[in-house]
Amino acid sequence: MNLSRRSLILGTGGLLSVSAAPLLFAQSGRPQRGEMLRLIANENPYGPSPAAQAAANKAIAEGWKYAMRETGELKKLIAELEGVSTQNVIVTAGSSEALRISALAYGQQGGRVVAATPTFSFLPGYARSIGCEVDEVPLDADMKHDLDAMAAAVNKDTRLIYVCQPNNPTGTLLDGKDLRAFLDAVSSRAPVVVDEAYLDLWDDMAEHTALTAVREEKPVIVTRTFSKLHGMAGLRVGYALARPDIIKRLDALRVTEMNLAGVMAATASLQDTEFLEFSRARIRECLKITTDVLDEVRRPYAPSRGNFVYFDTGGSPRDFMGGMRKAGILTGMSYSPYPTWARVSMGRVEDMHVLADAVRSYFA
Ligand SMILES: Cc1ncc(COP(=O)(O)O)c(C=O)c1O
Repeated sequence: MNLSRRSLILGTGGLLSVSAAPLLFAQSGRPQRGEMLRLIANENPYGPSPAAQAAANKAIAEGWKYAMRETGELKKLIAELEGVSTQNVIVTAGSSEALRISALAYGQQGGRVVAATPTFSFLPGYARSIGCEVDEVPLDADMKHDLDAMAAAVNKDTRLIYVCQPNNPTGTLLDGKDLRAFLDAVSSRAPVVVDEAYLDLWDDMAEHTALTAVREEKPVIVTRTFSKLHGMAGLRVGYALARPDIIKRLDALRVTEMNLAGVMAATASLQDTEFLEFSRARIRECLKITTDVLDEVRRPYAPSRGNFVYFDTGGSPRDFMGGMRKAGILTGMSYSPYPTWARVSMGRVEDMHVLADAVRSYFA
């Protein structure tokens, strides 16, 4: 049914009218009959965009080739869009690879990494696995990174500092000026990785990005991904922006080369501004449905700038997760040290109505 509707639209010869486009975007990522709704991993089922899917399909037929030239083209496009040189860019297998090779670049001789807790665990976790100690700094009362405490945690053994902007799982965003002051204060003591996986979900990204510090040649690494706004988590494309000497250092440590389908899809997706606007608008709509129902059932939540909401279940997140499972929804990741809080990820607008009904029944 969905497929035939899609081929009907594609049957316009590839020329999408503006009114047809949202309908076509809306066809992506439908759960199959009997499948659980996945509101658990901060994915974006509106993607990949039709243009990205077409590019990935083309790449399959050309899959006998290595992706060197196409990766170079993607890097050039990213540099152009970010207003930096190609020497400031490394394209990676998801931003996870950029996070992990950053840890490797600075932590392979041991030493300490400063990070918030809770935060996205890939960089601190990987740093631990290669022999670093991690100084975990609790979030402040607003569930934001406590930048003063993080600065105070930096010592002579600190090799790397990790900031997640906005933070996962709380969704909290640091004011761009506060972040910049922090970077100015600490980056002379240890390089800072600023993970901006969710920052492009919003129109005011320029006010909050750490890219200005990269442009001024500070030892700062900004990481970005195609997994969230672009809805391409399974295609594994991300990138990092940093000083050319840092990019060279990261490049020498990369553990894999890029896959052609992901690279070609990312290149198409970056240029599909209509889809990106559609995707942003849907994520905002999903957040509103979710926070409205949490208001209705009087559960507190952190203000989110991600495609997820972190809220207080008032009880056991495990019970909440079980309750949602019974309603066919996979959701409710929990993180210490907030024993009653759980994270729900955004999906499609209609999925959030299913979640809202399940949340209403659970808290009734
Ligand atoms: C803050 C943050 N950074 C990075 C990632 C990893 O994304 P990917 O490797 O898919 O680019 C995630 C995924 O959930 C995330 O939440």
